[in-house]
Amino acid sequence: MEHTLKVHIVSDTHFSHTNILSYCPNRNFKTIEAHDEHIIGLWNEKVSNDDLVYHLGDFSFCNPQKSIEIVERLNGRKILIQGNHDHKNLKNADFCSHFEKIDKYLEISTSFQGNKVKILLCHFPFESWEGMNRGTYHLHGHIHSVHGTFKLSHIKRRKDIGVDSREDCGLWELQELLFEVEKEVSSVQTVVPDHHAEI
Ligand SMILES: [Fe+2]
Repeated sequence: MEHTLKVHIVSDTHFSHTNILSYCPNRNFKTIEAHDEHIIGLWNEKVSNDDLVYHLGDFSFCNPQKSIEIVERLNGRKILIQGNHDHKNLKNADFCSHFEKIDKYLEISTSFQGNKVKILLCHFPFESWEGMNRGTYHLHGHIHSVHGTFKLSHIKRRKDIGVDSREDCGLWELQELLFEVEKEVSSVQTVVPDHHAEI
């Protein structure tokens, strides 16, 4: 069967970070091992080895050796955007070798509903960005939006895509995600944070 390349996006997996279970009560697991296995299982169910995954940071909170054991089990080609918990892992060459690219910020483009769209990726959320009123998306992590507990003001086409933004604590498939973001664009009142004209 022919497989079409899919792009997935995820953030803030916080593998092996025991305290994340109390910080994010939606991660309803008895042990951190059960938490890790759940996320790894969902990842590998969705992602095939030809697929591309953007991880927007805070991969894990453990020693690099354990992080390597985890990343080796995850399907797909991977690109990492650095989060504030990734510094130790990023000093380890073996860990880094599992990613095709590592950066603090990345601009990508994709075709969506017949148009070419631009997407800005960063671990941390932006308040204003180039093209924000002309259809450019901004996807980020870091804030752990848990059922609306931690929320930024609504700005069109900006979304926290971390595992806490989903009920299943899984990854987003990029096309499915952009579709969700567009639904929010039309349904929620928006804050316009700068003077640039909206089109
Ligand atoms: Fe973070």
